[in-house]
Amino acid sequence: MECGESIELKPFNTFGVEATAEHYIAVSSLSEAKAVLRNALNKPIIVLGGGSNTLFVDDVVGTTIHNRIEGIEILKETEKSVDVQVGAGEDWHAFVLFCVEHGYGGVENLALIPGTVGASPVQNIGAYGVEVKDTITHVHALSLEDGEERVFTNEECAFSYRSSVFKQALKGKYLITSVVFRLEKIPTLHTSYGSIRAHLIQNAGNSESWTIKSVFDAVVEIRTAKLPNPNIIGNAGSFFKNPIIDAKKYVDLLERYPDMPSYMLSEHSYKIPAGWLVEMAGWKEIKQGTVGVHEKQALVITHRGGASGMDIYKFSEEIRRSIIRLFDIDLEREINIVPAVTHKE
Ligand code: EPU
Repeated sequence: MECGESIELKPFNTFGVEATAEHYIAVSSLSEAKAVLRNALNKPIIVLGGGSNTLFVDDVVGTTIHNRIEGIEILKETEKSVDVQVGAGEDWHAFVLFCVEHGYGGVENLALIPGTVGASPVQNIGAYGVEVKDTITHVHALSLEDGEERVFTNEECAFSYRSSVFKQALKGKYLITSVVFRLEKIPTLHTSYGSIRAHLIQNAGNSESWTIKSVFDAVVEIRTAKLPNPNIIGNAGSFFKNPIIDAKKYVDLLERYPDMPSYMLSEHSYKIPAGWLVEMAGWKEIKQGTVGVHEKQALVITHRGGASGMDIYKFSEEIRRSIIRLFDIDLEREINIVPAVTHKE
């Protein structure tokens, strides 16, 4: 167990911003996490995973628990499926690779998403037509209030688009220790997302020969071409969620922008790519010092070093306000701001 006072969090967040943790403790097993919680109860606690969905806008008061709980264990196997319990601190992409190598289908479309396994249910990570909620059976967690263990069923996680009970009603109340996935040994491929399909048709031959490995390869190639690698350029993936608007607003906008991309969710609601809104508002490639909008995907804010988390936050506020002015749509951030900023400047 590693711990210390006034520890620099820059290496632990993919934006690469500076912030210190008053008390920092890294836990690498369930028993360590339990022991830490016994001593830290009633103090402010922040749980940090891969730091790929967090923007530190100030120093962190209280205890920062760095969740590095390891382990991959097969719980149950049938002819069709396998149940795998994975430590929350395991690297997400390494787990996806493990699945692809073993022929376990279900998470291959989620390749290269930065972060840890424990963070995957919190924001119900998703990409290329797949959301992690469809593979999760249970989430094991410890209460930050009394240290008690609790196992959440899939229903109890209340998953929705980029959200779950851990981001809503139980936000900041649990430390996730492991996640149980049910993966398919006879996989159904998810290839309906336009760019994946086009890539497979071009590179992976006849559709009968496509495998989870071909889908994985397509996702890796597309993501690598479009999204900045956080190990090279600071970023946290999509900064905003794609907004959902009602049919009236959709029709009004379509009149103004006949080429507007959208996904129909129901007769009454449509999802609009936030990247398109940000690009249409003129932000693509715009930079303020070392903070900017990524040139290949306007949904991603990048940081090339030297700016503070608050600088990045303020930049995102300018974008948010311009989208309200232009489209009357208030973008919601996908990433967590730590410590929370309650006022909107
Ligand atoms: N678009 C633009 N300009 C841009 C970006 C996008 O016009 O700069 C438009 C294009 O029409 C494009 C459409 O938006 O066809 C969709 O773009 P993309 O396929 O990149 O998907 P997205 O909706 O922008 C979502 C996720 C990504 C995920 C991709 C692929 C959210 C907030 N983001 O982005 O997730 O990789 O789909 O499935 O839902 C992440 O969460 O960190 C993330 C990268």
